Amino acid sequence: MLVQFGACRLELVQGDITRQSVDAIVNAANSKLAGGGGVDGAIHRAAGSTLMDETRQQYPDGCPTGSAVATSGGLLKAKFVFHAVGPIWRGGVFGEIDLLKSAYRRCLELAVEHSCRSVAFPAISTGVYGYPIDLAAETSLAVTREFLLTQKKPDLVRFVLFDGGAFGAYARVLDAMAD
Ligand code: APR
Repeated sequence: MLVQFGACRLELVQGDITRQSVDAIVNAANSKLAGGGGVDGAIHRAAGSTLMDETRQQYPDGCPTGSAVATSGGLLKAKFVFHAVGPIWRGGVFGEIDLLKSAYRRCLELAVEHSCRSVAFPAISTGVYGYPIDLAAETSLAVTREFLLTQKKPDLVRFVLFDGGAFGAYARVLDAMAD
């Protein structure tokens, strides 16, 4: 599914983010940048061990929740990995929505700062961190739409949803947004 916002494209696909041919892919990391399972594990496996070496060396203090840091992409097709730290869902009354928005916004800023024309996101926080998928779709698509309309960059933002349920949730929200 593809929607145009001004000169930029926002695309939804179902698949594996490690296989995307884009300038940067986003990782759903933890604040220690210590690696983990889910998409984090998949990205580190596909990128090779230099990704963790580089992350440790450049960011020994980790990354706060709601922000993101950049490394190279190691063996991935993507030139960069942006390690974003989404919030753990605790009922929605601990600033989770703002923290998730801010993690996405920081990645989009990093994409512009690193002259990336395309960036791919997973559904940050919706796995182990328990963020409800419908709400995550609303939050992440709204912040992306606003960024594309105001900053007019990057050219392409792709959301890579791992399963049919997540893809459906994102497609419903994007459909409503495009009307
Ligand atoms: N490609 C795209 N999406 C994926 C992939 C993949 N290869 N593997 C998993 N996902 C999806 C999950 O289905 C989920 O919708 O990524 C989303 C985020 O899930 P998690 O990876 O569990 O990330 P998150 O909920 O943000 O939790 C982060 O988990 O792995 C640890 O180190 C990580 O502590 C951190 C925490």
